[in-house]
Amino acid sequence: MEAETQEALIAALRLQLDWGVDEALAEAPLDRTARRDPAPAAPPEPAPRPAPRPLAATPLRAQPPAATRAAELAAGADSLPALREAMAQFEGSPLRETATNLVFADGVPDAGLMLIGEAPGADEDRLGRPFVGVSGQLLDRMLASVGLSRERDFYITNILPFRPPGNRTPTDAEIALFLPFILRHVELARPRRLVLLGGVAAKALLRSREGITRLRGRWHQVTVSPDMEIPALATLHPAYLLRTPSAKRDAWSDLLLLRRTLDGN
Ligand code: URA
Repeated sequence: MEAETQEALIAALRLQLDWGVDEALAEAPLDRTARRDPAPAAPPEPAPRPAPRPLAATPLRAQPPAATRAAELAAGADSLPALREAMAQFEGSPLRETATNLVFADGVPDAGLMLIGEAPGADEDRLGRPFVGVSGQLLDRMLASVGLSRERDFYITNILPFRPPGNRTPTDAEIALFLPFILRHVELARPRRLVLLGGVAAKALLRSREGITRLRGRWHQVTVSPDMEIPALATLHPAYLLRTPSAKRDAWSDLLLLRRTLDGN
């Protein structure tokens, strides 16, 4: 390859990185600079249509749609390891195809305090653990400042167990699809209190249309099942705090509220 062409290709690649492209969606690279073959002179012969399948060979029970399957798998899990296995089996979301790992949870499952974020980022996807990238490190430091550690005091997970490509915000449909799994996750972990990190977690679990700036800073109730309600504090997401350092003041006041509540004051 000529040096000039190689340089141009490297520049194009660098530009994509600058724009935030960090995901190859096709198995093999696609050479968009290659010349296309001329169009075929005549349309190809249509393939012969297959004979209709005899009725007896049709499966009696169709595969349930993804949402029903998610609800069935979640309800069938009777422990956290079983839930993790059920989520690994769930084939109803394309996010599974682009993600490297299922990101289930981290921390101490029976600590009594459960934190819920949005979705794994690139580092979490690579390592299969939630909140291990820069925003997770900020979160750990903030929690440490009120005496809480992941090794001892809380359990942490996300609304989505798979990374959305390019870290885009999860769609409403994706959140709804994975909702049975996160509700079952909370039901099995049985925390006394929840902390909802950011707007996606707060809106999904509080079933609210209000933004996080209105929801944050106070305790709400999350209805986990007909007979389980858990107090939940909504607060700002650490990734938002990295982008908006002036908001750290609000996050700090939320953490003090959490500390006072845990101390029973
Ligand atoms: N942001 C999240 O919401 N969750 C993670 O696990 C990492 C970043």
